[in-house]
Amino acid sequence: MAQYKINVNGAERTVEAMADMPLLWVLRDLIGLTGTKFGCGIGACGACTVLLDGKEAQGCQVTIADLKGRKVTTIEGLSKDGSHPLQKAWVEQDVPQCGYCQAGQIMAAAALLKQKPNPTDADIDETMKYHVCRCGTYQRIREAIHEAAK
Ligand code: FES
Repeated sequence: MAQYKINVNGAERTVEAMADMPLLWVLRDLIGLTGTKFGCGIGACGACTVLLDGKEAQGCQVTIADLKGRKVTTIEGLSKDGSHPLQKAWVEQDVPQCGYCQAGQIMAAAALLKQKPNPTDADIDETMKYHVCRCGTYQRIREAIHEAAK
């Protein structure tokens, strides 16, 4: 075990963990931010997606030892009150069905919009194809991303 200082949602946090502890478990078990979800644990579903220095990253594939000097943003860090344009568009388009994958989907969309403020359908499909939604909400996700980009 070692002590790590990490920056999550703009706040410095100090946690004790093994060097190989995945960020996903740091967030959920050590910091209590449970918006980021566990799906597969092998980097294949996208449920655990967060932003690392503003870019999409899978929390199950990044260890706490990888975080030195980097900034983590989780779904809780997008806005305190659901006022981020993506969150509003998600509500407007009634996107979630079961909702389990949606935090990861929104974080991937946030990374996409940072990179491409007006993404095409192809841009959206290319980004979101790495995110599994068992309810099949892909069409509504696409519409919500277009709406948030307006
Ligand atoms: Fe990380 Fe599936 S839980 S990609």
